[in-house]
Amino acid sequence: MKKIVEVTKSPSETFNIGFNLASKINSPTIIGLSGELGTGKTIFAKGVAEGLGIKELITSPTFLGINEYYSGHIPLIHMDFYKKVINKENLDFYTKKNAVILIEWFENFNSVFNTNLKPNITVHIKYLRDQNDIIHDNERQIIIEIG
Ligand SMILES: Nc1ncnc2c1ncn2[C@@H]1O[C@H](COP(=O)(O)OP(=O)(O)OP(=O)(O)O)[C@@H](O)[C@H]1O
Ligand SMILES: [Mg+2]
Repeated sequence: MKKIVEVTKSPSETFNIGFNLASKINSPTIIGLSGELGTGKTIFAKGVAEGLGIKELITSPTFLGINEYYSGHIPLIHMDFYKKVINKENLDFYTKKNAVILIEWFENFNSVFNTNLKPNITVHIKYLRDQNDIIHDNERQIIIEIG
């Protein structure tokens, strides 16, 4: 297992970490993304998408909780478990695909499906806070675990 810990000071730095991670991916991979509301999971996902060569505009998956993109060198399935709307049939359908599967709110995943899925890569994004618990506006800590 390889663990990488980085601090970013802007959304574009977070984007770039996703971009660099994805540019090394060329086989089916499950990425579990976790972190509080608004930490930057979707920005990270946009970086991943661009790093996979995807040209389409990446938006937060809302209605069915799943977006799919096919314009890169490997398909990207982008899921969001915040509202827990994704059903098991959909999940099975997508996990059989030869794709990168990126799951936002991965912390909700195993409880929804009563599984113990371990992604190939986990990414946890955290707010940085001072000693009075005040959030440092544009700073995030990103913890990446591979394998
Ligand atoms: N260092 C940083 N990295 C990422 N985002 C940052 C950073 N600093 C500030 N931001 C801001 O934080 C917000 C992150 O939004 P984003 O939608 O990516 O979060 P999210 O974790 O996907 O939220 P949600 O939990 O609602 O899905 C953006 O408004 C972005 O500009
Ligand atoms: Mg999001």
